[in-house]
Amino acid sequence: MKATRVTEGIYRLSANVSNILFEGMWPVPNGVAMNSYIVKGDKCAIIDGVCAWDGVPETLLSQLDELDIDVKDLDYVIINHMEPDHSGWLDAFRNVRDDFTIYTSERAKPLLDAFYRITDNIKLVKSGDTLDLGDGRILAFEEIPNVHWPETMATFDTKSGTLFPCDAFGSFGAVDNDAPYDDTLQEEQIEFFEREMERYYSNIVTSFSAATRKAVEKVKALPVKIIAPGHGIVWRHDPDRVIRSYTRLAGYSKGPGRAEITVLWGSMYGMTELALQPVIEAIESQRVKTRVHRVPESHIGYILDSVLQSSGVVLAMPTYEYKMFPPMAAILDEIGKKKILNRKALRLGSFGWSGGAQQELDEIVERNKMKWDFLEPVEFKGRPTEQDIALIRQRGIELARAVKAWALADDVA
Ligand SMILES: Cc1cc2nc3c(=O)[nH]c(=O)nc-3n(C[C@H](O)[C@H](O)[C@H](O)COP(=O)(O)O)c2cc1C
Ligand SMILES: [Fe+2]
Ligand SMILES: [Fe+2]
Repeated sequence: MKATRVTEGIYRLSANVSNILFEGMWPVPNGVAMNSYIVKGDKCAIIDGVCAWDGVPETLLSQLDELDIDVKDLDYVIINHMEPDHSGWLDAFRNVRDDFTIYTSERAKPLLDAFYRITDNIKLVKSGDTLDLGDGRILAFEEIPNVHWPETMATFDTKSGTLFPCDAFGSFGAVDNDAPYDDTLQEEQIEFFEREMERYYSNIVTSFSAATRKAVEKVKALPVKIIAPGHGIVWRHDPDRVIRSYTRLAGYSKGPGRAEITVLWGSMYGMTELALQPVIEAIESQRVKTRVHRVPESHIGYILDSVLQSSGVVLAMPTYEYKMFPPMAAILDEIGKKKILNRKALRLGSFGWSGGAQQELDEIVERNKMKWDFLEPVEFKGRPTEQDIALIRQRGIELARAVKAWALADDVA
């Protein structure tokens, strides 16, 4: 871990974490960076922290040493977001010094007590409030509730135009601390972080897409020159690029996404699987890309990424004990809870004697208010007949056309 200079008076302290499931459940095979920032005026503030500072004296203090900052100079601790990936270092920090003042939002106060038993030296701020660090450096606070918890706020350095939005504009992916800025990375490396951002967004943020859209509008109203998030790289050269990415992803949650179709399928004895190639071929014959995941093999973290980006979804699964194939039901419910709304969809599947998958599907879609627009399903007894396969192809084409009409019309608009 090494401190890097973002711009005059602003430094990034970061730790890469790997070999974990993020939030205890999301795979991060490429790791994830946790970023904290030091802002220097006459006084010095630290914005957010890094949970991976398990040994604060060894890691944080050595980085401060590199910057020639004494821990006693850290007058202010700014907490944008109380999730322990950013606040978890507070306990250890208090062992080093205990007389700092916390600047945070009103809704963070009970969380500070609940998580860390901190009740004193807290200055509550709201949108429009500022903190003058001296030397012309004034920090302005902007509440961005629910991106990602209710208490979340962003901090804006008015001197340099640097925005510290914590989880917003973040991504998965470990960051090379020798080149943590968009202006120090090759184009393909930036694209790697954009892909990591898509999975991060779909796993962590997408339920809060309406709040994210509001937050993005607030950010657009600020004279932002640099975006320095709590995860991922710092956007110093082209902050508009990450604003555009977040605008796009936040829009995908209500649809349309890309002119693509995610095919989710599960099968016990290969009967439903017989429908798979025909439907994929039919979709691709319309030049619509497919993203295919088998359940339960594919992790929900990847499925959410695909479904969020796709305007259409095929759900292919058999009936199981008068209901949907259970892993598909669980995944559809999770997609609904993440509020991925308004998809064009098609259900296919085999059954033995009674069927029953449809009723459960309807319940899940209704319960989560998903507003998915389903074509007439294609269900077949046991092995699909030639007529079934012909119908499956026809529905695949219909779905692909519906997806193209929706996604491309929105592109033009
Ligand atoms: C454990 C189990 C439970 C099933 N429950 C039902 C059911 O409630 N109703 C029904 O019509 N078929 C039921 N079936 C039959 C399957 O839906 C049928 O075998 C179908 O062809 C399986 O498709 P697959 O090979 O794609 O898994 C069940 C099969 C199994 C193995
Ligand atoms: Fe968070
Ligand atoms: Fe976070």
